[in-house]
Amino acid sequence: MRVLVVGGGGREHSLVWKLRQSPRVSQIYAAPGNAGIAELAECVDIGASEVRRLADFAANQAIELTVVGPELPLTLGIVDEFEGRDLRIFGASRQAAALEGSKVFAKRLMRKHKIPTGFFQTFYRAEDAKRYIQDVGAPIVVKADGLAAGKGAVVCATVPDALDTVKRIMEDRVFGDAGARVVVEEFLTGEEASFLAFTDGQTVVPMASAQDHKAALDDDKGPNTGGMGAYSPAPVVTEAVHKKIMDQIMIPTVKAMAAEGCPFRGVLYAGLMIENGEPKVLEFNARFGDPEAQPQFMRTESDRLTALEAVVDQRLHEVEIRWRPEPAVCVVMAAGGYPGTHDTGKPITGLGTAARLKDVVVFHAATALVEGKIVTNGGRVLGVTALGKDISNAIAQAYRAVEKIHWDGAHYRTDIGRKAIERIA
Ligand code: AMP
Ligand code: GLY
Repeated sequence: MRVLVVGGGGREHSLVWKLRQSPRVSQIYAAPGNAGIAELAECVDIGASEVRRLADFAANQAIELTVVGPELPLTLGIVDEFEGRDLRIFGASRQAAALEGSKVFAKRLMRKHKIPTGFFQTFYRAEDAKRYIQDVGAPIVVKADGLAAGKGAVVCATVPDALDTVKRIMEDRVFGDAGARVVVEEFLTGEEASFLAFTDGQTVVPMASAQDHKAALDDDKGPNTGGMGAYSPAPVVTEAVHKKIMDQIMIPTVKAMAAEGCPFRGVLYAGLMIENGEPKVLEFNARFGDPEAQPQFMRTESDRLTALEAVVDQRLHEVEIRWRPEPAVCVVMAAGGYPGTHDTGKPITGLGTAARLKDVVVFHAATALVEGKIVTNGGRVLGVTALGKDISNAIAQAYRAVEKIHWDGAHYRTDIGRKAIERIA
C-alpha cells in the first residue's frame, strides 16, 4: 500500500517508523517530513496545511491512505477535501476537529452531555471576562477559544495575572482571531494524563495511557511548551480510572459528537486531570499527541495500519490493539531558547551512537539535512525514546541515549518519568 503521512514532527516520525514495520506498506511519503523521516520515507516539499496541494499529490501518486498528524490541516478541512475527491484519509473532519479547534464548542458539548470537566463561562467581551474574574478570584484559567499552538491556555495564580491575560488574548490579540472569545475556567488540581482512543464514530478502542510533561523546566517549572517528554503507560490511570475515562468521557463524547451531527472519526485525545481517582477533561485534541505518540508507538505490537484502516472503513469493532508490556519513555531535546525564540541550523552529533543503544529510537522532531549534515530546524528537535523492562530502566536508557547527543544550546528536562516512579513506589 502507498501511504502519505502529513506533518514533519516527532509524532510523524514515530508514525512513519511504525508504519514501515507493516508488511502491507510498500511506499511511504511524508509532507513535509524531516531529516529523520527521510531515512524511512520519501519527503515531499508540501506544507502540512496546503490541503489542496496534498490532495492533488495523493491523487496523482495513487496514494491509498493518507494519515494526518497535526491539528491545523484537520481544522482547515483536509479530511473533507480528500473525502470529497474519494481519497482515503485518516483524521477528523473539519466539524469534528472543532472539538480541538474551539474550546467554546468543546466545553459546551461537555456541559450539554454531562461529560466531567471544570466549571466555565464563555466571554465575547474583555470587560465582561474581567468583571467575572474579579468576582470569582484566583487561581483561575483563561483560555483563548481557537488554536494557539498549545499556548492558548493560561493558568493564572492571581487576579491581576488573569486580567492581564484577558487583555493580551482579547485586546492585544496575541493569538489573533483565536482570542475573539475566551473561556474562563475553574482551576483544577490533581495529576494530568493523556488518554487517546481510536474511533470510527461508533466503536471506541483505547490506546495505552500516557503522560506528557508540558512545562519547560524540571519540577514542572517554567513556561508551557508543546511537551518536553512523555511516558506510557501512566500509572495514575489505574484499571478503575481507565474504566471511568472510557464510560464517562470517551464513549459519551463519541456519542455526543454523533448526536450533534458531527461524527468523530480518527483519534480522540483527552487531556485529563485526575484527582482521587476522578477524571475531568482539560481539553480535547483531534489527533495523536506529540510527544505521547513516540512512546505509545514504540509500545504498539499490532500492525498500526490495521487500526488506521479500520477507522477509515468504519469497522473498528473488528480490531484489537496489542501493547508490549514494557514501558517506554521519550525525552525531548530542545534548541537553545525554546520555548521562546530559538536558534536553528546547529549541527547535531552523536545520533548514530545513541541510536545503536538497545531498545532506543531517536525520533526527529525538527531537523534538516544541510550539506550532508543533520542540523536543528525548530524548537523541539529530537524525541529520544527507549523501552525498558520497567519504567526506571526505560528512563535510564533514554537518558543514556540523550547524553550521547550534542549540539550548541541543546537542553532537556532531567526528570521525565519521575512521577511514574513516585506513584509506583
Ligand atoms: P490545555 O491546552 O487546555 O490542555 O491546557 C494546557 C495546560 O494548562 C494543561 O495541560 C494543564 O497543565 C493546564 N490547565 C488547563 N486547564 C486547566 C484547569 N482547568 N486547571 C488546571 N490546569 C489547567
Ligand atoms: N503533547 C500535547 C499535545 O500533543 O497536544
